[in-house]
Amino acid sequence: MAVVRVPRAGRTIDDLEAVVAFLAAQGIDHERWEPTHPLPPTASADQVLLAYDPEIARLKARGGYLTADVIDVRPDTPNLEAMLAKFRREHWHDEDEVRFILEGSGIFFVHPRAGDVFAIEVGAGDLIRVPRGTWHWFDLCAERRIRAIRLFQDAAGWTPRYTESGVDTGYEPVCLGPAQLPART
Ligand SMILES: [Fe+2]
Repeated sequence: MAVVRVPRAGRTIDDLEAVVAFLAAQGIDHERWEPTHPLPPTASADQVLLAYDPEIARLKARGGYLTADVIDVRPDTPNLEAMLAKFRREHWHDEDEVRFILEGSGIFFVHPRAGDVFAIEVGAGDLIRVPRGTWHWFDLCAERRIRAIRLFQDAAGWTPRYTESGVDTGYEPVCLGPAQLPART
């Protein structure tokens, strides 16, 4: 379940209703899709998109999204650091950023025009919609694993516009979820 943190205020919100309300006040949609469709870890992107077709169709109708794909990142993904370097610099898009997390976890940082930066840690079952124009950046949690459905309004896909503010350098991508605890030996 998504957890929100406001580092400067030392505030953590981990109650679903409170998370949804906090994000809604910032114009960000968050939903839990439960239960998720059972899929084997070996499911292909096409199988994922087929299983979630009703949900994807609902989002497309609501937000004018044209295409959907599946992003699949693992610790051994080639050029992972170069990919993350693009995600973790503050940027915005001319379209919404819509992600449904299937597996793994990650952390969105959002920088409101007026107000403190806040972090949204997302995991399996979390849908998030960050509206176009929102200043944000993204990083993976320590497990370096995420699989997510992405929806796009522009068939060209993911186009970042960087703010070059440097604000992103002031925040550590510290995740709190159970997957981040050290494995027991
Ligand atoms: Fe983005």
